[in-house]
Amino acid sequence: MHDTERPASDAGRTVRAAGDPVDGAEGTDPNDAGADADGSTVAGHVVLIAGATSAAGLAVASALAKAGAGVVAVGSNTERLRELRLAVPTAVTYRCDLADFAAVTTLAAVVHAEHGPIDGLIHLVGGWRGGGGLAGQSDADWDILHRSIVTTLRNTTRAFNDDLLVSPAGRLAIVSSVSVDKPAPGGANYAAAKAAAETWTRAVGQGFAKAGGTAAAVIFVVRALEGLETELATGVTGLWEQPAASINNTRVRLASS
Ligand SMILES: NC(=O)c1ccc[n+]([C@@H]2O[C@H](COP(=O)([O-])OP(=O)(O)OC[C@H]3O[C@@H](n4cnc5c(N)ncnc54)[C@H](OP(=O)(O)O)[C@@H]3O)[C@@H](O)[C@H]2O)c1
Repeated sequence: MHDTERPASDAGRTVRAAGDPVDGAEGTDPNDAGADADGSTVAGHVVLIAGATSAAGLAVASALAKAGAGVVAVGSNTERLRELRLAVPTAVTYRCDLADFAAVTTLAAVVHAEHGPIDGLIHLVGGWRGGGGLAGQSDADWDILHRSIVTTLRNTTRAFNDDLLVSPAGRLAIVSSVSVDKPAPGGANYAAAKAAAETWTRAVGQGFAKAGGTAAAVIFVVRALEGLETELATGVTGLWEQPAASINNTRVRLASS
């Protein structure tokens, strides 16, 4: 399936489960961003943003592109990906349901073929369901939150973990919530899903540490993201400016939250 109505110079890809065709126009190669010899900045690294089309995703994509990274932006909505390409013309976009492991496996194969292994995975797929006290914590809401917050993180980290391990400076980041520290009955589903995502991320980080310490996993924590998009974007680009061992498995509360 084609992503339609994109400028000819932009890249738009739809990636589904293995066996489905992958198509789209040729786009900017993130590897053209220029290599960074000492690895002390994000410049020249390829960074995949999983869930890239929110305000936070746009801020992160824009900051990474400005810093010289190759940006691979993934979302599930064609129109929002088109808008991202207009805002960040050097970004390459792929449409993929990140909750579908087969589709994510295919995405990884396509990204590897077109851009090589990635150096960064910034996971931003979120969502909120809640309210109504404990009685209001429905199975339907749990399923939605689990799928968007936990399943997409599990899928993307499993598909790209080897990339991050072999990179000279692999980085994984998620954005979690203060509600993990102080969960309320009306947000129990959400806080439990976020706690699971944090635990999964620390497990990935433990693997990074065991493998020799050039990769790092970081958990950013906010109360609400609105107004903090630039701070998050600065934090993400800054991940490459700090040694992996000093930031791996840290929980970073964004200052203004
Ligand atoms: N917003 C807040 O106040 C807040 C508070 C605490 C923590 N956080 C966390 O911060 C992170 C970013 O938050 P946000 O509000 O910017 O996130 P979001 O809008 O919930 O999601 C980010 C992106 O994920 C994409 N997405 C959703 N499902 C997808 C799927 N199955 N496959 C591929 N892409 C998918 C969405 O784009 P498409 O629909 O275009 O695919 C969206 O642009 C999340 O982890 C969130 O939980 C946010």
